[in-house]
Order: sequence, then C-alpha cells, then structure tokens
Amino acid sequence: MDFDRAASLTPIPLVDPFGRAITYLRVSVTDRCDFRCVYCMAENMTFLPKADLLTLEELDRLCSAFIAKGVRKLRLTGGEPLVRRGIMNLVTSLSRHLATGVLDELTVTTNGSQLAKYADMLAGLGVKRINVSLDTLDPDRFRTITRWGELDQVLGGIAAARRAGLAVKINAVALKGVNEDEIATMVEWAHSEGMDFTVIEVMPLGDVGEGRLDQYLPLSMVRARLAERFTLDDIDYRTGGPARYVRVAETGGRLGFITPLTHNFCESCNRVRLTCTGTLYMCLGQADAADLRAPLRASEGNDLVYAAIDEAITRKPKGHDFIIDRRHKQPALARHMSVTGG
Ligand SMILES: C[S@@+](CC[C@H](N)C(=O)[O-])C[C@H]1O[C@@H](n2cnc3c(N)ncnc32)[C@H](O)[C@@H]1O
Ligand code: SF4
Repeated sequence: MDFDRAASLTPIPLVDPFGRAITYLRVSVTDRCDFRCVYCMAENMTFLPKADLLTLEELDRLCSAFIAKGVRKLRLTGGEPLVRRGIMNLVTSLSRHLATGVLDELTVTTNGSQLAKYADMLAGLGVKRINVSLDTLDPDRFRTITRWGELDQVLGGIAAARRAGLAVKINAVALKGVNEDEIATMVEWAHSEGMDFTVIEVMPLGDVGEGRLDQYLPLSMVRARLAERFTLDDIDYRTGGPARYVRVAETGGRLGFITPLTHNFCESCNRVRLTCTGTLYMCLGQADAADLRAPLRASEGNDLVYAAIDEAITRKPKGHDFIIDRRHKQPALARHMSVTGG
C-alpha cells in the first residue's frame, strides 16, 4: 500500500450523520484466542476459516486508509491479537504512522498471555499504553473464568509490560457470584502497582452457552459496594473511550466504569470496528455492517475503499439498545465479542 499516494488524494475526513468525527478505529486482527472466557466464548467455538481472513498486508492497507481519512487512534484487539501469526509485522508497519505523526496512538487490548514475549517489542515500536483483561487474582477462579488460561503467565506478562515502560490498564468484567467479592481487592492491587483499573458490565453478545442473567451484575451495584469501602470522587478524566472515571481517595488511583447497559455512552461515540475479514461495524451493539474486503481487493488504489468507508459512516446509528432482563434471555446480537474485539 502506498500511503503517500493515498494521502495525496486528500480523502475526506469521517463525520457521521450526528456530527460525530470518527477518529478511533478498533481492529480485531483475529477471532481466535488461547482462552475461552465464559462470558465471551463457548468452549467449542467455531472459528473462521483461515482463507476468509485478511492478510496482514491487507489489514495494514485498510488501517492506513482509515488513517488517511482522519483516524488518529488505533487499537488492535481480537480474539487475542497477540496470537495472530506475524502480528509484530503488522505492528511494525503501522508504527510508521506514529513516526510521521499522522497517528497519535497505537494500542493493544490483550489477555496478557503473550506479553512476556512481546512487551519489549511493542514498547520499542512506539506503543505507550495497553489494556490487559484480568477478572480475578485467584488462580483457580482464573482457570474457571478463562477455562484455558494460567494466571501466572498473565501476571508475568503484566510485569514484563511494566518493565518495558508500557502503561497498563487492567480491565475486569464484573460477574455475578464469580468475582464480585474481589473487585475491591483488585482495585487496591492495581492502584498499588500504579495501574488504572476499569470494571466492565457484561454485554449480551453471542451465545456463550450460559444464561446472561446468571452473569449480569449491574455496575451501579458494584459502585455502591465500592463506595462503602472507598471514597470515590468523580473526575473529568477521559481516554476517548466510554469509561467514566473516579479517583479513589484511599489509593490515589483511577477507577473506570464501562456501563453499556445502565448508562448510555453513545452520544460521544467516535469509533468504528473492523474485523479480521474486513467487515466494518459502525456500532458495537448493532448488526449493521459494511464489507470493505471486496472494494479492497477490487483494485490496487484506495478510491473504492474510501467510497465504501464514506458510505458506511452515513449508516452509523445514533446508539445501541442492549437489554438483559427476563424477557430477553437470548443474546441481543448473535455475534461474539471476539469478532469485534469489544
Ligand atoms: C473480546 S476481548 C479481546 C482482546 C483480548 N483477548 C482480551 O481479552 O483483552 C476484549 C474485551 O472484551 C471483554 N469482553 C468479552 N466478552 C464480553 C462481554 N460479553 N461483555 C463485556 N465484556 C466482554 C473482555 O473481557 C476484554 O476486556
Ligand atoms: S475475552 Fe479475550 S481472552 Fe477471553 S476469550 Fe474473549 S478474546 Fe479470549
């Protein structure tokens, strides 16, 4: 992909019908994973045939097209992004946009299992911050939640990331009856290590073989319980994401809440999501999508891709409409989180 040539076409920046500038692209580079978290995947997941995947070069070309159209922040996710073969080649090629200054930030959301191997390389390529998903500090519980994961491997990965100078934010999904008793301890642990901590509410995406009602724990309850133990002061801190932050007076650290169900975060949405097959989702909570693989493969230039992206953005909805209650036990969407990467 000749980015300079593409840039010389001065593609039009992306603004959706509600006036929101689209400056953040999340890319699910694989739907595969070395874990099988109970809220994310069924144990016997069927993954995409490898032949359906975009090559790393094609992913680079699409990401670069979005950057040419004004995207300033890129997050690699999955599935587990760091298990995609050759992933560091993609990070290396994308890092050229950091070097030229057209991209502000390249980040990764990971389960941490491969960080011991890749942390130094990520830091060397200009990645400054990463999110690591970790729902418990108890090894047995960790195994129950992730089915296939090893806590020590993840803790080792987090330590390697911090040694490499990466800022680490810990993301934990709040699960009823599973880790709700541990959230306060995890906040203390993360803050004592100098890491931000964010709690995420379970979203009803994909059939995972367990009832959503069994897993769903409203963050309003989590927050109320944390407030019994800590002093939570609202702060304005924003990372461009949907989290609302408080400062925990006792630890001095930042605590975020991502509450798609109990709080609507759509009005300031600046993001779209690209899957590893080149499908663009304009909203995490809606089924509508645009195929970018066909226009990408139809010609070597990027005009068709730009036109397809422009058309897709005209369809970005105002917001989503997740519901988990007794009348809505089915997933709100058939798609799993590992398709779009959260
Ligand atoms: C799909 S994972 C992909 C990246 C990487 N494998 C990881 O776990 O960080 C991204 C995030 O989505 C969260 N997630 C997965 N399924 C979810 C669900 N149904 N509701 C809320 N969060 C979910 C995970 O906990 C993780 O923080
Ligand atoms: S949450 Fe992340 S680590 Fe867990 S199964 Fe989903 S993709 Fe894998």
